[in-house]
Amino acid sequence: MLNAKNEIIIALDEGTTNAKAVALDGQGNVIAKFSQPLTIQTPREGWVEQSGEMLVAASLDVIAQAIAHVGADNVAALAISNQRETAIGWYRSSGKTLHAAITWQCARSADFCEELRREHLDVTIKAITGLPVAPLFSGSKMRWLLDSVSQGHQLAEQGEVCLGTIDSWLLWNLTGGEQFACDHSNAARTQLLNLQSGQWDDEMLRIFRIPRRALPEIKPSSGLFGYTRGLSQIPDGLPILSMVGDSHAALFGHALGELGCVKATYGTGSSVMAPVSTPQCTSQALATTVAWHDGERLVYGLEGNIAHTGDAVAWMAESTGLSELAESALADALNTLPASVDSTLGVYFVPALTGLGAPWWDDRARGVICGLNRGVKRAHLIRAALESITYQIADVIVAMRQYDGFTLNALMVDGGPTRNAWLMQYQADLLGCPVMRSDVPELSAIGAALLARKALNQATLTEMKAFIAQHSAFLPDMARHTQLQERWRGWQQAVARTRWQPA
Ligand code: G3P
Repeated sequence: MLNAKNEIIIALDEGTTNAKAVALDGQGNVIAKFSQPLTIQTPREGWVEQSGEMLVAASLDVIAQAIAHVGADNVAALAISNQRETAIGWYRSSGKTLHAAITWQCARSADFCEELRREHLDVTIKAITGLPVAPLFSGSKMRWLLDSVSQGHQLAEQGEVCLGTIDSWLLWNLTGGEQFACDHSNAARTQLLNLQSGQWDDEMLRIFRIPRRALPEIKPSSGLFGYTRGLSQIPDGLPILSMVGDSHAALFGHALGELGCVKATYGTGSSVMAPVSTPQCTSQALATTVAWHDGERLVYGLEGNIAHTGDAVAWMAESTGLSELAESALADALNTLPASVDSTLGVYFVPALTGLGAPWWDDRARGVICGLNRGVKRAHLIRAALESITYQIADVIVAMRQYDGFTLNALMVDGGPTRNAWLMQYQADLLGCPVMRSDVPELSAIGAALLARKALNQATLTEMKAFIAQHSAFLPDMARHTQLQERWRGWQQAVARTRWQPA
């Protein structure tokens, strides 16, 4: 067991827009947090990249600030949660990147994915990896990297190139190039992992043309990944005791993966995830994935990824002139405007701005605003954008209900938009079940810290329950739930209007 002196865990949450480091004390309380914004490049329509060096520099910086704040002697371990699916390659000898990191939002491998579908490989790929064929996942992005860099395939075959997800890139840099590993949850997002065995799958490696030796070793999400080494701002010898994808970390942070606990993270997009006892890969509507490996066993998750939720509201706020407001005034307006009107006056906004994700998976769908009439004002449009978040989440939950053994006792929620009380109540009424909002916003960092704490204390899940943050409940009004079903049927018609129709 730990002594009081070095019981602090520094958890990094390396996201797409910010790198955040959070210091958690021995009781699981957040005692300090540091954040740095990250930049995104969009060199062509549909292409999204980030500098790998910037991701590392910002991450090291916030970790160093958190360590300096609490004192290095008090730090027991580092924990990492990271943006998932983003692919990066680097030269093994120099650690220099092959290319910018290709982020999860990037659609550059859409044509390759279309080819896979034309060759009818999508069914096999889904059966083995649990993931529908889509440019979101890292395998097709890694393939693009090797195709695009001079002698990429040859160098990878020779073991001179490392391909990884962001956790493995951060680990490599934190350990001075000593460790090349990723965790099961990140590996599961590459579309190269065999869900049953928890290992890289030979057939997938062949289909995506990725040599095994270019890929990291896969380790449990909770356990020793290595020690910090050779960094100017971070002391040597701090153990890295967890790595896990951010959405998975949030699920662990809510309730340690208890069955019946379904979570939705509200961010730019959303991830709805539920732990399941066995990986079932039958439906194309949802992804089956590894939630984490807790050091003892693999835990599976069902997931629906939605591309535009918070982003849909940001787009509508921009388009209706609200984005001129300062951040806090904008948050107030997003709370009060939808409540200032009784309805959207029949308007629906389906934010398929770059296509539709789960459960539709239509890259070519495009957004619609429908039901416009003379009385529609800004408040109605903002309300339609907020309502669209709740309908999209409900669509994913409907798809989840098709899985044997799926139960929804409550929807656990986290992420910036969950501070909007109107949105939370609408979500609870629409679903007809309680929505439980985490009182601590940094759920991904907390989940990663809990996995590190588990490795450190060798604690059981029951012992860990004491560390779970409190939640605030939004209880459903069941009369309103019944009324909203009609409105939701209208939403389905609006979604149908966004779908791509072959000529
Ligand atoms: O799947 C992508 C997700 O992990 C990105 O997370 O926090 O950068 O929006 P975030």
